[in-house]
Amino acid sequence: MKISVSFTLWLLLGSISPSESTDYQKSFPQDIYAVLREMTASLVQLKANMLQTQEQAAQLKTEMDKLKTEVDKQKQDLKVRQVAFSASLVAGSQAVTIGPFPSDTLLIYKHVPTNIGNVYNSNTGVFTAPVRGVYNFEWTVAAGGDNIHPSAAVLVKNSEYVFLAWEYQADGFITSSKAVTLLLEVGDVVFVRLWANTRAYDNGSHHNTFSGHLLFPM
Ligand SMILES: *[C@@H]1O[C@H](CO)[C@@H](O)[C@H](O)[C@H]1NC(C)=O
Repeated sequence: MKISVSFTLWLLLGSISPSESTDYQKSFPQDIYAVLREMTASLVQLKANMLQTQEQAAQLKTEMDKLKTEVDKQKQDLKVRQVAFSASLVAGSQAVTIGPFPSDTLLIYKHVPTNIGNVYNSNTGVFTAPVRGVYNFEWTVAAGGDNIHPSAAVLVKNSEYVFLAWEYQADGFITSSKAVTLLLEVGDVVFVRLWANTRAYDNGSHHNTFSGHLLFPM
């Protein structure tokens, strides 16, 4: 717009030549009307340009608002995609033996060093998928062999038993680990159950653990 304004001014100034200035008295009425007409035309053009510029500014603002909304949404998506947790059975340093129970029993891992995205609930022992995607889980179950009971834990997706970690030794410390990759929908839950008639032993060394993280959304 600046360019068109200075161009218009230049036109206006240029239209009053030195010779015309000297013939001022004689040619006044005719010339002043010509100049006024030209000025009016220029003002109309200027106004049109301004309106156009205002329109463009409004359009630009709309575009910028759209972009901002998109950036905010992507930021939010990125947050949802940051999912990783790790937990162990015992919080603190006390030693506990869990089981044997006559049926499979939910293990609630109380010690939670990592819980990005707040996806694992240490009150219920349940992980909930915040986004559709492929997740990896690892779990380890351990106990002292007592010559009777194995040490075993199954990973459950919703109500489906996925993989079982199981070990039996007559004595010594026995530990069993498994990992699994699962495609989960939003709201799917994953947790671990102690296998019926088996035992888990944990203390401040954190032998029994349950971890998971999002590999990639889908
Ligand atoms: C936990 O138990 C194991 C196996 O009995 C033992 O070796 C370890 O020292 C214990 N850890 C703590 C912190 O008590």
